Amino acid sequence: MAAQTCVDVRNEWDIVSARQLGRDLSKELGFSSVDQARITTAISELARNIYLYAGKGKVCIEPVKDVNRSGLQIIASDTGPGIQDIRKVMQDGFTTSGGLGAGLPGVKRLMDEFSINSSVDIGTEILITKWLR
Ligand SMILES: Nc1ncnc2c1ncn2[C@@H]1O[C@H](COP(=O)(O)OP(=O)(O)OP(=O)(O)O)[C@@H](O)[C@H]1O
Ligand SMILES: [Mg+2]
Repeated sequence: MAAQTCVDVRNEWDIVSARQLGRDLSKELGFSSVDQARITTAISELARNIYLYAGKGKVCIEPVKDVNRSGLQIIASDTGPGIQDIRKVMQDGFTTSGGLGAGLPGVKRLMDEFSINSSVDIGTEILITKWLR
């Protein structure tokens, strides 16, 4: 399996490509179909946020290994406007676009690890991991 594969996100078709890549890699790693769905949903939400709020960015997906487990790690990054108040965007229902505001809190619930690094005017990087069980 490729060490790391990235998809540039610039339009709505790229969101579908990122999602498809996540589906392929999670299947290949042996995730259950339920976990495959969790992973692809999380990737879609992050890719959609990149498209909507940053205009462009990328989603990189790679297999990861810990001492006693393996999994899939996804890094969604952009050099867009950044997020001013991370605590706020992690609350259910917070949105600046009239969306449901369910994206980021939903992604956190679907995955095992979730971290955001964001600076205003510099950009946003969100790292998520799902472990095989
Ligand atoms: N990559 C990003 N760059 C800048 N701001 C972002 C980024 N991703 C999310 N945000 C901000 O965080 C808010 C919350 O994102 P979230 O995905 O949870 O909800 P939403 O996109 O508004 O609605 P939904 O995803 O439910 O359609 C967004 O409204 C936006 O202001
Ligand atoms: Mg969203």
